[in-house]
Formats: sequence, C-alpha cells, structure tokens
Amino acid sequence: MKDVRTGTQSQWQRKRVFIRTYGCQMNVYDSDRMADVLRPLGYALSENPEQADLVVLNTCHIREKASEKVYSELGRLRDLKAERRRGGSDLVIAVAGCVAQAEGEEIIQRQPAVDIVVGPQAYHRLPELLARAARATDARRADGRRRPGAGVLDTEFPAESKFDHLPAPSDVRAGSAFVSIQEGCDKFCTFCVVPYTRGAEYSRPATSVLQEARALVAAGAIEITLLGQNVNAYHGEAPGSSNVGLGAGSTWTLARLIRALAEIDGLARIRYTTSHPRDMFDDLVAAHGDVPQLMPYLHLPVQSGSDRVLEAMNRGHGRNHFRRLVDRLRDIRPDIALSSDFIVGFPGESDVDFDDTMRLVEEVGFASAFSFKYSRRPGTPGAALDGQVAESIKTARLAALQSLLGRQQRDFNTSKVGATVPVLFAGAGRKPGQMLGKSPWLQSVFVEGNADMIGRLATVRLLAAHPLSLAGEIATDGLPARAGGPFGVAA
Ligand code: 5AD
Ligand code: SF4
Repeated sequence: MKDVRTGTQSQWQRKRVFIRTYGCQMNVYDSDRMADVLRPLGYALSENPEQADLVVLNTCHIREKASEKVYSELGRLRDLKAERRRGGSDLVIAVAGCVAQAEGEEIIQRQPAVDIVVGPQAYHRLPELLARAARATDARRADGRRRPGAGVLDTEFPAESKFDHLPAPSDVRAGSAFVSIQEGCDKFCTFCVVPYTRGAEYSRPATSVLQEARALVAAGAIEITLLGQNVNAYHGEAPGSSNVGLGAGSTWTLARLIRALAEIDGLARIRYTTSHPRDMFDDLVAAHGDVPQLMPYLHLPVQSGSDRVLEAMNRGHGRNHFRRLVDRLRDIRPDIALSSDFIVGFPGESDVDFDDTMRLVEEVGFASAFSFKYSRRPGTPGAALDGQVAESIKTARLAALQSLLGRQQRDFNTSKVGATVPVLFAGAGRKPGQMLGKSPWLQSVFVEGNADMIGRLATVRLLAAHPLSLAGEIATDGLPARAGGPFGVAA
C-alpha cells in the first residue's frame, strides 16, 4: 500500500532518521522540532547514518569552516547511498539549516545525491518535501536514469511564522527545556549571514510562549532557556491582543515575558540567549535584580573592544555602552557572570584595535567566552571591505585573546571553590559513578551520585576548580523549587 504522505511503500514500516546538528542552540532546537514533525510519519531517531533511512544535516553557515564540513559529510553520505542502492534499498539525504538557505540549488549541483534542501523557515513542510522527493526519485527510476537523487528545494520564507505550524515541543531533557521565542535578525552586522539565512526579525506571541512553557513545566521542566537569534529584541504580541491597529503597549518585552514565566509554579531557573548589547533595555536590566529565577549568567556578545571596529561591524554601540551596561548589571546583580563572543581580524582591525579588545576583556572579566577568527562570508558587506587581515595575524590575535579568556575562565571557576550552590543534574559524568550538572553560572559541576539525580536540583559544595569544570560533593539532597535565586547561594 502506498503511504499518501511519503509516496513510499513503507506506511507500516518503522523508519529511522539520523539528524546531525551543526552550529548554534537554535539549530539544536530546530533539529528537535524536525524530529517532532517526522515522528507522525513513522520516523524514530537513529544514532548513526548507517542505520537510518533518512539523514538530515542541519547546517550552519556562520563561518566558512562550518559550511565546508557539510560538503565533506555529504561526500560520505553519497557513498553510503550508493552502497544502499547496490543492495536494493535507499537513503534519503536532506540538507537543512542556514547552508541550505544560503546556497539552495548550488548544494544539489555540487552534490547530486542530495534529495531535499530545506531552509529554516520551511521545516513544517518536510512531510511534503519527502513525498515530492520520493516521487521524483521514482520518476527518474522509471526513466531508467541513473542519477541517484532528484533534488527538491524549499527555501521560501513563508508569510506566516513556522511557529504556527510546528508541533509544540514535548520533550524535557533532564529538567531542562528550550523555548524558541524569536527568529531572524534585522541588525545586519556587516560580518553576519543570519539576517540573510534566517530572515527578518520575528517575535512569537507571548500567549503561545507562555502556553508552551506551562506545558513544559507540567512535563517536568524546572529550567527554561528562551532562545532567539536576537532574543532581547523580543517584542511579542501581548496576550489577548490581535495587535492589529494597536499602538505601543500591545507588545511584551523580554523582561515582561520573564516576569510572567517567573509566576509559573515549579519553574526554578530561567535563562535567555543570545542577546545584543543594544537591546538590554532598562526593564531587562531591572529583571536581573528582582527576578530570583533569572539565573545570574548572561551571554552578551560584544565582538570587539574597538569603537572603530564596532562601527565598521555596524553594531550600533561603542565600547563605553558595553562597559556601562556591565556596570549596571553588576550593580543590580553583584554575582552576575558574563560570557561573550569575539571576532578577531575583522577587515581593517589594526594592532591598536586589537589591543582595545584585549583591554576591554581585562577590564570586564568574563566567566567564559567564544572567540573566532573573522570569516569572510559571501554576500555580507564585510566580505567586500578593504583591509582583509592576513591569516597569520588572525591566528596570533586569536591565540592571545583565547589565552586571556581561558585564564579568566579558570579564575572564575576558582573563585567559586568553597561555595555551596544549587546544581541541576543533566546526566552521567565521564567516570563511573559520576553525575554532571550545571551551576547557576552554567559551569559544569561533577559529583559522585546516581541516576536518580537527573533532572533535579541539589545543593553542592564546590571543592576544586578545573579549566572547564568544577568538582563538588552533595551538601543536602534536593532544594526548594525556587532555589537558585540571588539568595539561594551561600558562599
Ligand atoms: N566570522 C567570524 N565569526 C562570526 N560570527 C558571526 N559571523 C561571523 C563571521 N563572519 C560569530 C559572532 C557571533 C557568533 C554566533 O558567531 O561572534 O556572535
Ligand atoms: Fe548576526 Fe548581528 Fe544579527 Fe547577531 S545581531 S544575528 S551577529 S546580524
């Protein structure tokens, strides 16, 4: 019998999908949503491509290396597909994510084994794309042509948001869940592909975010991380308002949303990522001071400490704005830890500009950070700028910056030794009998324990600091649900 949804013979057969995720947390979230869309079609998750009927590569285009990895993986999958075909079966290959959006048709030309190319706004149409790909393959087989795939492409940005079409997330992993509240970006930093691959800024209505959050807490989440490419630009439609013809006041800010989430009984931890220094509005800074569930950790990408470079990057703020913001956050929440993103070797970056970045890092002090060499992305304004920096200079600057940031991370971890803190346990550690969890500052903490601890908060005394983690011991078992706020931590 034909499956009307996929056009294959396998309606009652259990199928398997392997999803490989590259890049950011948005992609991790999207991969889970794709799994949700595919589940009703009979697809269970596979641990590896070898056992899968369908492989989805959820790609990242942010830096050149990230997209090149995709093509080498596609080469391996082409061989696997050819082997399957020799054995009389098949492997469907789909490319999703930002490389799919940016390169579209080119992917199919460069790797004809690819069956489906689907952009980040079209995942709800995966069932249809699978059916179309299956039909196209059948047609080519009937023609006696040997080309393995038939290349179905969907990189349209729909008028309505994909949030309206995707199934609500149901899985809570170890007490933690993600809720995507915002997509796309209108900031157009001159180095970044996101405004092109993810489209215009869109905020999800507050009602739908709150509904999803309540359902996740009911399903066991005690920590929710709000996700968005530019999450603090959030301006979602207010509950009960259609927003049509309504002026200011008909939308909610991120701070308002956080305050409403804090009302949900049982939700002990709230986080959000990724934010822009320009959108740290007063009400959000204030929320860090008086919402105990909002964790004292903020990822706030600054990219550079040089005003000249920040201007060329079109960041819309200078180094003093960032410094003042950090001071205000620390005034209102003294134990707040900061993390950031940095780019070295942006076109035109001089030794003096780079020194400004190093000085900013020294002055601010970061608990952790991501740092990258500038990667020239076709189609972005930065790619066309004069003064591209030599690779050897980028390498040297990155090494210097990472050594400073690494030292700061170790110092931050060391500063917490002796403290007693709430830790949310996520799973087993590397050694037998070890459990791994997260501190309020997103540090990895390992203790001796057992699987019963997974998805629970426990009070841990921190005993020793390592560069990327801390060792601790359980102080008492379990904490009140609201622990982890400003007064839940005794140093
Ligand atoms: N080159 C290097 N790093 C980049 N990022 C974004 N675009 C580029 C690029 N072209 C970094 C920024 C951003 C993070 C997600 O990736 O630091 O904050
Ligand atoms: Fe990219 Fe800048 Fe938008 Fe962040 S704010 S997603 S770096 S364009």
